[in-house]
Amino acid sequence: MQSMALALRHEARRIAFVPTMGFLHEGHASLLREGRKRGDVLIVSIFVNPIQFGPTEDLDRYPRNLEGDCAIARECGVDIVFTPTAAEMYPAGFQTSIRVADLALPLCGASRPGHFDGVATVVTKLFNIVLPDLALFGAKDFQQLAIIRRMATDLSQPVEIVGMPIVRETDGLAMSSRNAYLSPDLRRSALCLYRTIMLVRERYAAGEHDTAVLLAAARELIATEPAADIDYLELRDAATLQPVATASDTTLLALAVKIGATRLIDNTMLGPEPKAAQ
Ligand code: PAJ
Repeated sequence: MQSMALALRHEARRIAFVPTMGFLHEGHASLLREGRKRGDVLIVSIFVNPIQFGPTEDLDRYPRNLEGDCAIARECGVDIVFTPTAAEMYPAGFQTSIRVADLALPLCGASRPGHFDGVATVVTKLFNIVLPDLALFGAKDFQQLAIIRRMATDLSQPVEIVGMPIVRETDGLAMSSRNAYLSPDLRRSALCLYRTIMLVRERYAAGEHDTAVLLAAARELIATEPAADIDYLELRDAATLQPVATASDTTLLALAVKIGATRLIDNTMLGPEPKAAQ
């Protein structure tokens, strides 16, 4: 892959790159289509990265479907599907890691210790192998996007990071490979995440800016859903991910909720929703 990328760059071809863990859906496809528009060559990686999963997490049962993924990749105009193995990515004796400090501490970083070190490390390796001019990431994983932007700036990685809006099912559930774990009943319960987002957005738009009041209303809504168990529910400054007492347009509502055994995340900025790539 790296020799192909070197040859492409030698020909001054602009490489657009979308890193994924596969089981592709319309959320991934939106990144691929934007990448297709912005690059001469479009590369997607499919790699379920072991070092970003905790010991009790779903690495072994993470959904996989290479054939389906290749069909979606083809539809989106992907030129190269890169599918390394764990042994290739992590040779014997591997011991190097990238840590973005403060941005990785709260939210998912608090619930999943080491997760973002695993993400930052694999994304850096993928950048070094694929040599992209630009790489696209979804705002569905808002904290991940913030960490990758920070890392690329801090380490002078010569890659433009493009953020893309969250793609949702028609009923509002954010698309995720992990939605495949949900039974029809739990799929209905999972709607409480989007209902919470809408409730907080509405209360904020109606003039309620006290984060304690907004969070209490959100918790009350989720408490009405018996299958839901809050991991975190926070209003944070979107740039620093630190808590705020008074909400503004750049305040981020971020939530992780277990629906049965499946942990789902979602988020929104309280201000008007951005529609295009950022
Ligand atoms: P994965 O969960 O497969 O997601 C790959 C990319 O697709 C991420 O940038 C993610 O934010 C984006 N994405 C997923 N669902 C989306 C949705 N509903 N709307 C918009 N974008 C969406 O994120 C990872 O893989 C991994 O951590 C990875 C970056 C590949 C490193 O291993």
